[in-house]
Amino acid sequence: MALNINSLLIHGGIDGDETTGAVNVPIYQTSTYKQDGLGEDRGWEYSRTGNPTRAALEKLIADLENGKYGLAFASGLAAISTVLSLFESGDKLVVSDNIYGGTFRILDNVFKNFNITYEIVNTSDIEAVKAALTDEVKAVYIETPANPLLTITDIKAVSDVAHEKGKKVIVDNTFLTPYLQRPLNLGADIVVHSGTKYLGGHSDVVSGFIIVNDKETADRLYYLQNAIGGVLGPFDSFLMIRGIKTLGVRMDRHVENALKVAKHLESHSAVTKVYYPGLLSSPGYEVNKKQTDGPGAMISFELGDEYDVKKFFKGLKLVTLAESLGGVESLVCHPASMTHAAIPKEIRDEVGITEGLIRLSVGIENVNDIIEDIDSAIAFAKR
Ligand SMILES: Cc1ncc(COP(=O)(O)O)c(C=O)c1O
Repeated sequence: MALNINSLLIHGGIDGDETTGAVNVPIYQTSTYKQDGLGEDRGWEYSRTGNPTRAALEKLIADLENGKYGLAFASGLAAISTVLSLFESGDKLVVSDNIYGGTFRILDNVFKNFNITYEIVNTSDIEAVKAALTDEVKAVYIETPANPLLTITDIKAVSDVAHEKGKKVIVDNTFLTPYLQRPLNLGADIVVHSGTKYLGGHSDVVSGFIIVNDKETADRLYYLQNAIGGVLGPFDSFLMIRGIKTLGVRMDRHVENALKVAKHLESHSAVTKVYYPGLLSSPGYEVNKKQTDGPGAMISFELGDEYDVKKFFKGLKLVTLAESLGGVESLVCHPASMTHAAIPKEIRDEVGITEGLIRLSVGIENVNDIIEDIDSAIAFAKR
C-alpha cells in the first residue's frame, strides 16, 4: 500500500522491531557484532559500516524523499563533505549565491585545497546557470530556499539544463524537508540535509543525510561513508526517528505561524525588507509555489536605520538568540556575524547579507506571543 507522507513519517523505513513487536525501533547501542565463524557474519560487522538503528533511519529518510538509498551522518556538514568527496581534482561546482556559511567554508577552505573549485552563481537565474556550465563543471549545488535570503531556485529548470550537459544536481533540502519539497521528484540527483533542523525538530540532535536514486552513486557514497566515517550514532538515530514522526504536524504549525509573522513584519513601519517565499511580494513566490507544498518557516528581515540591531536582539524575551533553526522554539540570529561569518564580507555585501539582516526561525509557540515579543524588541531597539 502506497502511504501518504503523514503516514510514511510514522510508518516509513523499518516500522518497529520484527523480533519483539516493539512499536519503536530499538537502539542497537553496539560498536561491533559477533561473527559465527570466519566470513559468517549475520549481516552486521561493525557500526561505522552499518547499524540496525541507523539503517532503519536511513530507509525512512529514503522513503520520505522518494529515493532508493538514504545515508545518515553525524552532522549536515559530514553529509555534505561526503557528497563533495565524490568529486576529483580538476572538477568544479556551480554553487547558489547564498548558501549556508559552513558549506561555503568547506568548499573554500577544504576542498579547494584538493583542487575541487567552485563558482558562485545566482541559481535563480537560469541563464546564469546555463552560462556557468563549462566543461570542468561536474555539478550544480543549490539551496532552495537559500540560507539566509530565502532565494528560490527552480529545481526542475536547473536539473533540465544541467542534465542536458551531463552535470549532476545536488539540492540542500534542509529548510523545507521532504514534507514540503521533494527535489528527487523534480529531477535532482542528490539531496542533502542538516537533520539537526526540522527533521530532528527539537534542537537536541546534530545529524545529516544524503538521499539518491542512482545505484552507482549510492555505492560510491556508502563506500565513502564507511571510508570517511562521519556516521550517526545509534542513540541519535533513534532520536531522529522519534523526531521525524511529528514532522508533519510541526511543519503545518511552523508554516501557519511563519505566514502570520511575515505578513505582520511586512506591514510594520520599522521593517524595511522582509524575505519570505510565502509572501506574494517575494520574487520567488511563484516558483516556490509550483515546486513545493509550502514556503517553510524561515524569514529574514531588516530594520530601518533608526533601529539598533544589537538592541533588538537584547530586547527579545521569548524568541531566543542562537545559531541553528528548525526547532519547536523560535530562534533568531545575525547571519553576518554568526551563521555566515565564514563568508568574506565582500561576498556577503554583494549578495545582500548585510549587517542589519536578522534571520528568524519561526517556532510553534503561540503566534501572538511570538509577534508580541518581536514588536516589543523592535520598540526597545529604537535609537
Ligand atoms: C541549509 C544548511 N545546510 C547545512 C547545514 C549544516 O548542518 P550541520 O550544522 O548539521 O552540520 C546547515 C546548518 O546550519 C544549514 O542551515
